Amino acid sequence: MDTNIQSTLQEDRLFQPPAKFAAQARIPNREALDALREKAEQDHEGFWAEQAREELDWHTPFESVLDDSKAPRYQWFADGKINVSHNCLDRHLAQRGDKTAIVFEGEQGDTRHISYAELHRDVCRFANGLKSLGVASGDRVVIYMPMVPEAVIAMQACARIGATHSVVFGGFSAEALKDRIENAAAKVVITADGGHRGGKVVELKAAADQALSNGCDSIEKVVVLKRAGNDIGFQPGRDIWWSELMEGQAETCEPTWVGSEHPLFLLYTSGSTGKPKGIEHSSAGYLLGAITTMKWVFDINDNDVFWCTADVGWVTGHTYVAYGPLACGATMLMYEGAPTVPDAGRFWKICEDHNVSIFYTAPTAIRALMKAGDAFPQQYDLSSIRLLGTVGEPINPEAWMWYHRVIGGERCPIVDTWWQTETGAHMIAPMPGAVATKPGSCTLPLPGIAADVVDADGNSIEQPNQGGFLVIRKPWPSMVRGVWGDDQRFYDTYWKQFDTQKFYLAGDNARRDEDGYFWIMGRIDDVLNVSGHRLGTMEVESALVAHPLVAEAAVVSRPHDIKGESIFAFVVLRGERPEGGIDKSLTRELREWVGKQIGAIAKPDDMRFADNLPKTRSGKIMRRLLRTIACGEEITQDTSTLENEGIVLQLQGKA
Ligand code: PRX
Repeated sequence: MDTNIQSTLQEDRLFQPPAKFAAQARIPNREALDALREKAEQDHEGFWAEQAREELDWHTPFESVLDDSKAPRYQWFADGKINVSHNCLDRHLAQRGDKTAIVFEGEQGDTRHISYAELHRDVCRFANGLKSLGVASGDRVVIYMPMVPEAVIAMQACARIGATHSVVFGGFSAEALKDRIENAAAKVVITADGGHRGGKVVELKAAADQALSNGCDSIEKVVVLKRAGNDIGFQPGRDIWWSELMEGQAETCEPTWVGSEHPLFLLYTSGSTGKPKGIEHSSAGYLLGAITTMKWVFDINDNDVFWCTADVGWVTGHTYVAYGPLACGATMLMYEGAPTVPDAGRFWKICEDHNVSIFYTAPTAIRALMKAGDAFPQQYDLSSIRLLGTVGEPINPEAWMWYHRVIGGERCPIVDTWWQTETGAHMIAPMPGAVATKPGSCTLPLPGIAADVVDADGNSIEQPNQGGFLVIRKPWPSMVRGVWGDDQRFYDTYWKQFDTQKFYLAGDNARRDEDGYFWIMGRIDDVLNVSGHRLGTMEVESALVAHPLVAEAAVVSRPHDIKGESIFAFVVLRGERPEGGIDKSLTRELREWVGKQIGAIAKPDDMRFADNLPKTRSGKIMRRLLRTIACGEEITQDTSTLENEGIVLQLQGKA
């Protein structure tokens, strides 16, 4: 993290919006952006109310704009009635019924084009199917699917009938799935036999069966899509094939009109302590954030083919796969598999084959593909691309420049978008026709987003390049509404620190440069960012400690070439410490164990065994010291308070 701060400090390259891009952009210059921003600053609520009236189709218009009577559970447009699926599908049918909504490509090369009319029909049929299973407005439905159009159909169908979905990333383990099902007390799981990823079949149904084999009593039905054709177990009475459920269902389904604040979805995300928290999002405010950012940041228009590579299991796959593009009537691409199958040219081949014009991915993917060499992208015609985007972690300037030069042909702006599961949509990001970009900076807050960098007392830090807490000073429509079933945790995590000022605490450190550009410097807590995905240190540590041989564990991150950060685990065993602190077979076993408990992304890359962990007098693990050790840096911290200073040598692997 420190090295990143230093390298970005030296970054002074400025890339103006290309004239050709700006000329056709929705927000074509800085004046247009400043005018919007000014309007929002003068009348925050009025600005958002106007956006909500313009961008959303209402069943019952709202009178109330922002209601803070239940703060920090802020409510937007609360007396209005709406349906998200209606806004994503029905309202396009007259003009865009035949337009392609989804272009799908499977990892094995199968492709499908689904029009708005077809998508609408399938969503309605599936929605009717869910109703026939007894799913009603307010029920929770867990979706554990591969990246196939049916994942979006399932999400949209839930939205259509007012059921609250909780998508669990297909890479998560049975254990993680079980925790999420139980926390949400879900009624139905929608899954598939398997999905194709990395040349293998990911056996989703088997994992779901395992999750359900012990607990998950709230589950009544399991809907199974046939995708990979692998053998699966089938429990009659509980399990039902997707195709059977769809059979004979009516092709229309009147949307269930819900209040603006109705919970559209829960999405579990890591914090520094305890189990993942169910981030709760609203219907109208959330969708408004998705639409405004699709237009401002992605400058989406009718001719675009929009490709966000994120899995629907992450918030990016919610806002910029399942909802945002459809709400804008756009054509979007979905790809099932890994970027390196059959080789590192796959993404670029897909861009060429399907004329992708807007491409949005994570720095970790960019770094991996950059490493694979220029020869891969150079085999393909990437001239259809007009805009590039990144999300998930700070992008290092080297990767930014490669993306700009090799993928964007020096003609495409790059939008580096800062946001979070909790914010629902982009918060700090350039409008590509209006804002000059700097490699590594997410640039400026969007209109109506009161982002600031403050000191511990909540005072705005005016001095350029001085780090501080990233906060949002005013509520915004797509903001998190709560942590499912845990109001206290919601308050403690996001609102407690700046309670008097009522600022939202993002949990990131940031600085602003002389031009007011934001630079994200990393997390303020113990959250790891592996390949752009958030993992709590506690989650990984609890997983390790759950192993019968492990007494105690501490994990920290260290910089990693491709993943951004990788996990380094320090482990104390119940028995003898292995000779020299290294035990390859036990390391392998514990890595697999963590993979089983959480998912492959949580497997530690490094592991070292010691007799003890370094702790302060009050018993807190000295994470900063462990981080220094994991990075192989010289120790400058005071270690004199350690019970056993010899431990440091063990942790360093020197004894
Ligand atoms: O630390 C920030 C980092 O990712 C965190 C949010 O993670 P998650 O909720 O999983 O959502 C990721 C996709 C929105 C943030 O607190 N982060 C996200 N985008 C950026 C970023 N860090 C730097 N630059 C970004 N563009």
